[in-house]
Amino acid sequence: MILDKEYSVKLAEARSYLVERVTVLPELGVILGSGLGGFANLVEEKVVIPYKDIPHFPISTVEGHAGQLVFGKVQGRSVVVMQGRFHFYEGYTMQEVTFPIRVMQVLGVTGLIVTNAAGGINSAFSSGNLVLIKDHLNLMGDNPLRGANLSNLGPRFPDLSEGYNLEWRQKALGIAKELGINPQEGIYVAVCGPNYETPAEIRYMRTIGADMVGMSTVPEVIVANHGGMKVLGISCVTNMAAGILGQKLSHVEVMETAGRIEKQFVNFVQALVKVL
Ligand code: HPA
Repeated sequence: MILDKEYSVKLAEARSYLVERVTVLPELGVILGSGLGGFANLVEEKVVIPYKDIPHFPISTVEGHAGQLVFGKVQGRSVVVMQGRFHFYEGYTMQEVTFPIRVMQVLGVTGLIVTNAAGGINSAFSSGNLVLIKDHLNLMGDNPLRGANLSNLGPRFPDLSEGYNLEWRQKALGIAKELGINPQEGIYVAVCGPNYETPAEIRYMRTIGADMVGMSTVPEVIVANHGGMKVLGISCVTNMAAGILGQKLSHVEVMETAGRIEKQFVNFVQALVKVL
């Protein structure tokens, strides 16, 4: 899938399919990361649509990802929740990975809450921390905007100087305080994966200013910004990154930690939906 006229046609087909099935069009999008899918249970007046049924949607293959769009209301706001996302390491192109964000855009979504599981690089972090993303580093070696620019979707050279909306971050800090959550703030570096990093890579990432590392989020955030959306990003530190504690990393640990803090995470996102 590349960015061309065909892409616009595919988007329009996905849009029509959804518009016919959804009662209220969403204003806010939420992407749920690995092990953090529980937020979808809060959605009221739900319309659940499996990715496999939506024209041109890729299908997610990773354990812990349900693979469906959940439309409905949370705190009176109309939302669309991605329960499960597409990863570059699964073999999708960047345009495929971000196709759902474009679909959100053409459905009228103007704001996006994006979440992920990440490895902690900053030694002040620990497993189980929630981190508000301040900015990112793209080490994926590719970009979803590569190719012809579809000017109806956004500008050729989009500004990313506030890729993670400052006002939303400040609001999120306020909400967190009310809930007794003490989130960290940090810079997220995205890599392709699927292997976890080497200790040498983690030392390098720390040197260039990263606080946490993961294999997602950055493509979606680039596209959301290109499409004029405001973005809030939250990482759940599911493990300390390679070489930091000298232990081995595993997907099991990632899922266990995400499961452990899911309730707090869900409460946080629920409260955020009300104010953003
Ligand atoms: N590295 C990359 N991605 C991750 C990690 C990690 O340590 N933990 C969760 N996702």
